[in-house]
Amino acid sequence: MKAVILVGGLGTRLRPLTCNTPKPMIPLVNQPFIEAMLLRLRDQGIDEVVLAVQYLADRFVAALGDGSRLNMKLHIIEEPEPRGTAGAVKNVEHLLDGTTFVFNGDVMTDLDLRAMLAYHREKQSKVTISLTPVDDPTQFGLVEMGRDNRVSRFLEKPRAEDITTNLINAGTYIIEPEVLRYVPPAQFYMFERGLFPVILQTGDPMFGFPSRAYWTDIGKPQTYLDVHHDILIGKVRYNFQGQQIADRVWLEGDADIHPSAQIVGPLVIGHGVSIGRGARIIGPSVIGPNCTIGPDVSIEGVVLWEGNQIAEGAVLRNCVLGRNNQIGPKTQISDGAIISDECNLGGDNRLEHGIRIWPGTQLGEQAISF
Ligand code: GTP
Repeated sequence: MKAVILVGGLGTRLRPLTCNTPKPMIPLVNQPFIEAMLLRLRDQGIDEVVLAVQYLADRFVAALGDGSRLNMKLHIIEEPEPRGTAGAVKNVEHLLDGTTFVFNGDVMTDLDLRAMLAYHREKQSKVTISLTPVDDPTQFGLVEMGRDNRVSRFLEKPRAEDITTNLINAGTYIIEPEVLRYVPPAQFYMFERGLFPVILQTGDPMFGFPSRAYWTDIGKPQTYLDVHHDILIGKVRYNFQGQQIADRVWLEGDADIHPSAQIVGPLVIGHGVSIGRGARIIGPSVIGPNCTIGPDVSIEGVVLWEGNQIAEGAVLRNCVLGRNNQIGPKTQISDGAIISDECNLGGDNRLEHGIRIWPGTQLGEQAISF
């Protein structure tokens, strides 16, 4: 079984975390998101995948190569310029030879792919769209279905009074490659605004596949944090790497943890981490490999990528730090703040209210109280 994963987007909503790292390559519990996704596909019988890359394409090649490390066959195909979601699949059409899964590369889900495939075949569908219910449909594109779950209408960000369903496109599709004849070659073309409305007109069978599987789009800072929390509290199935050393505390390799440090799960601690005297690390949190957490640092609800150095007495809550940042003593980072990579933030700063700090930022002591 073959699949195409769309991983060429700019990931603007997640900037500045995506300045140096394309969104599907950002770590999810210390593992590149796309790697966990590929393993999930492999475990559900998909062993040949085309990655449709564009933005920061070389990062995918360097990390994944031909896929042999993951025991699967991988084709990494770069678009000459962004072609949009349907245009990207059209661009790799020559590699497809039958029923094909297509995935957005930024969706965390435990959808049963085998059940979706059986449904697609039973319905003799040409396009099957996975659907998920949401609480507030006004923020999304809704998919209306008629008898037999045949798709009848797409509604983009409707007003409250126009809402007829709470089901949205969940970013997993099965297509018969023949529908790609409706996609103009070498052009920017989207599924939602291009191909799907055309298929409604041609009358080719297009079905929705509603499911209550776990579903989160990792593409916004808060959803990126939320998905970590959901994994750590066990709301979604996840294969933790490393060894469980205490109640819901996983250690990936070796770490140097001071006996006076307070460690409360759910937590994942990467290889080479050092945690100093009197530090408090409270879950749900992920401490990336080779991070140094100084004495009396307090951390709660945080995702740290690799190589961060947090000096004495700093306080980190509900925030994300990219790679290799240095955080000065007693600096406080909280409330959805995002620090990118290679920043040097002096002591006694306060970074809150969703502030976003770009890569390489240098900040003196007491320079920001935001
Ligand atoms: P934002 O800029 O924050 O909207 O993120 P994004 O660029 O990733 O866009 P969006 O979340 O809508 O994209 C959904 C999926 O399609 C993501 O996995 C993207 O990587 C992918 N994608 C979007 N546009 C393209 C494209 O032009 N080419 C390819 N190959 N993939 C794309």
